[in-house]
Amino acid sequence: MSPATSLLDQAVTLSDFEALARQALPHMAFEYIAGGAGDEWTLRANRDAFERTLLRPRALVDVSNIDTSLTLLGTHMPFPILLAPCAYNKLFHSEGEMETVRGANLSGATLVASTASTVSLEEMAAASNKPLWFQLYTSRDREFTWDLVRRAEECGCAAICVTVDVSVRGMRDRDTRAQFDLPAGIERPNFRGLSPEALKGNPRATGRHIYSPNLDPSFTWADLDEMRRRTRLPLLAKGVLTAADALRFVDAGCDGLIVSNHGARTLDTLPAALDALREIAPALAGRAPLLLDGGVLRGTDVVKALALGASAVLIGRPYLYALAIAGAAGVVRCVDMLQRELEMSMALLGRPDLASVDASVLW
Ligand SMILES: Cc1cc2nc3c(=O)[nH]c(=O)nc-3n(C[C@H](O)[C@H](O)[C@H](O)COP(=O)(O)O)c2cc1C
Repeated sequence: MSPATSLLDQAVTLSDFEALARQALPHMAFEYIAGGAGDEWTLRANRDAFERTLLRPRALVDVSNIDTSLTLLGTHMPFPILLAPCAYNKLFHSEGEMETVRGANLSGATLVASTASTVSLEEMAAASNKPLWFQLYTSRDREFTWDLVRRAEECGCAAICVTVDVSVRGMRDRDTRAQFDLPAGIERPNFRGLSPEALKGNPRATGRHIYSPNLDPSFTWADLDEMRRRTRLPLLAKGVLTAADALRFVDAGCDGLIVSNHGARTLDTLPAALDALREIAPALAGRAPLLLDGGVLRGTDVVKALALGASAVLIGRPYLYALAIAGAAGVVRCVDMLQRELEMSMALLGRPDLASVDASVLW
């Protein structure tokens, strides 16, 4: 048995991947995945919000067929679980995002490819057996940003998720302590073509200033309008936390929203993503599909997010840990576990399909 397989066999739940990855990864890479902003209050809150939400079962429902499939903004999905966009996969596996794509292929999950990938979007798309979604970090160089949108279209991506919650890098003290930096030889090929000035410097903002070379602090609503005009792909805003912003994003032409505090990696003491969903979903009243990420580790968490108005969830850290310990097989195991838990939860709750997972499933 290979060491990777034996590590994988020790994982029974999604949270097990974290401790296993700690053994398998260099300290800096582990800290980069695990860390949250500031004192990590929000990181804990993302979990607490799921843990204090209780479920209400319904007895004697025929659950001999559980159907978790859905179509979301034109993409058919076998289950409401996506792989969140996560940067720098070569820090976690030598093949980087190519291995993540293989995991997505084998598991059936839709992968949202990060702008800050260490394999180009074109290579990822060519290896993917279904359309990727593309996460867009805007750049101060607007023409470069529009070019990324065009590249996503040419790669056959099925949606663009523009990240709206990182005008500057978060207070990631664990990265600073672990002296996080991209090792020589690990590149961000999607940024090729940006001026050397724009790319210079540590991806972790250093020194006195708060700005990072590849984050754009000047992107505003007028730029979003321009982006909307430039693509016909479904456009989602990733990182929405308030009802007021949610309504404005939909008014600005966004087709969907990802309710997220960026996995608690930006600003500490933001509310849990699940609590933000409690505010946003009623205000939006179904005008656009909502996705949620942040702290999802259990099938019951998926149920709770759906019950509060999400159409689907994304997972970040769990699949990165799984990638680190066993590559594509790890990603597959991670998605399979969560999907199996979701099906088991739906059966035990007497909710055989996603339409029946509504607010009545909450205590
Ligand atoms: C290591 C790491 C890298 C990330 N990179 C990106 C990124 O490039 N773009 C982005 O929009 N979000 C990024 N995120 C945030 C995720 O997309 C997602 O919002 C978050 O991980 C969800 O929370 P979870 O890790 O608790 O599942 C990253 C998260 C992690 C853990």
